[in-house]
Amino acid sequence: MTALSAEGRNGNYPGKGIGQPVGVAVLGMGTVGTEVLRLINEFSGSLENRIGGPIDVRGVAVSDLSKKREVLEKFPDITLTDNARELIDRDDIDVVVEVIGGIDYPRELVLAALNAGKSVVTANKALIAAHADELSDAANAAGVDLYYEAAVAAAIPVVGMLRRSLAGDQVQRISGIVNGTTNFVLDAMASTGASYEEALAEATRLGYAEADPTADVEGHDAASKAAIMASMGFHSRVTYDDVHAEGITNITADDIAAAAEAGFTIKLLAICERLIDDVGNTSVSARVHPTLVPNDHPLATVDKSYNAVFVEAEAAGRLMFYGNGAGGAPTASAVLGDLVGAARNKILGGRAPAENPYAHYPVADFGDVPTRYHIDMSVVDRAGVLAEISRRFAAQDISISAVRQEESGEHSRLIVVTHQSLERKLAAIVDELRDIDEVKSINSVIRLGA
Ligand code: NAP
Ligand code: HSE
Repeated sequence: MTALSAEGRNGNYPGKGIGQPVGVAVLGMGTVGTEVLRLINEFSGSLENRIGGPIDVRGVAVSDLSKKREVLEKFPDITLTDNARELIDRDDIDVVVEVIGGIDYPRELVLAALNAGKSVVTANKALIAAHADELSDAANAAGVDLYYEAAVAAAIPVVGMLRRSLAGDQVQRISGIVNGTTNFVLDAMASTGASYEEALAEATRLGYAEADPTADVEGHDAASKAAIMASMGFHSRVTYDDVHAEGITNITADDIAAAAEAGFTIKLLAICERLIDDVGNTSVSARVHPTLVPNDHPLATVDKSYNAVFVEAEAAGRLMFYGNGAGGAPTASAVLGDLVGAARNKILGGRAPAENPYAHYPVADFGDVPTRYHIDMSVVDRAGVLAEISRRFAAQDISISAVRQEESGEHSRLIVVTHQSLERKLAAIVDELRDIDEVKSINSVIRLGA
């Protein structure tokens, strides 16, 4: 796809007309779905004014029909079903809200909805990061909307900002904390001394974690969000598989304490960059990994389950967005914003501007991405060791920014902080250090810089 196509994107989509109800199906009624229904009920009058017609929730699909669901008392006439597909296929459904989660089953449902001419609102980053092309094509072909503001950083309007507000600018870099669960865990470990397990259990209890929290702690959730942000920011398709992802499972209380001592806070960052090589070719990169953020950087102070996203654009300069990146109500706020947009288009006609990955920049190999390393190792305490280690760095053309050495039992603890170099060169020097007699152990390797 290289430009807006005549079929679909800029066709003529007539509306139902002012005052007509918009039939909505909500698929999933867990942390997010329950809040979506609660807010639709609470704000129904104002939503009608904003949309031009009432939202009429006609059906809700769940997995377990026997669960008690108080909010449904406010929707006495709806169908509650465990057959989402049947609900989508009903003629009186105009907009489908998908808040089930997962990939394969929601893909089937969302495609069925789009192909049947229903607009879709989803909070499902895993689905969008894996199948955006296929879903966008289906939405374009049917002339309907596909909205997913809640998929990145919940209540923070990151998708709309990239899709609309910065559509005329040139985004260079997007970085930030986009997973509430891991930020909550790292913050609790640093500020209250909570164990990793205690902090994760609390984040799960509060509704921040994914159904399987492995997706959070291993960086997969943030990787999906990075893929979406990079695709929108750089107008190029970046999928989940293109994102290098490392989580927080190897971060120890000792790493956190050592970082604090050195004036850093460890954050799980998603970093999306536009890269230009020596001969002027552009590529893009998206990665997620624990990062040492200097304590005087605004991202270091983002605590609890809050998210924050930095965007650097050529004309706009540096922008920062901060707020609730997880939880039922904040996510429902973003879903409702999308629902208002999709419903308004159903009434008035037309479609929202769709994303357009026309630029087709290739995704850079992770090894070719520039970064900095903070290497914490135990070394033999004897003359010449520091010189030998420095020689190894110099031989690889890696410049050292700082070195700290301290007594630590029978060995010395040596911390080396590098200047920027390519990821593959830095990874190679760590492998080399592991093999030399003077280095007894590599205690941690954490990338540095926000
Ligand atoms: P959740 O609490 O696990 O809820 C999932 C819901 O889906 C449940 O109501 C479940 O039914 C229903 N469900 C499961 N399988 C189904 C099936 N085959 N047919 C119909 N319904 C089915 O998940 P959540 O936290 O609300 O997250 C939902 C989506 O929002 C996910 O894509 C997630 O990534 C995204 N999201 C979540 C947050 C957050 O903070 N939680 C933030 C942003 C985005 P039962 O109730 O019967 O079990
Ligand atoms: N599990 C996600 C998080 C939910 O913790 O950020 C919001 O996408």
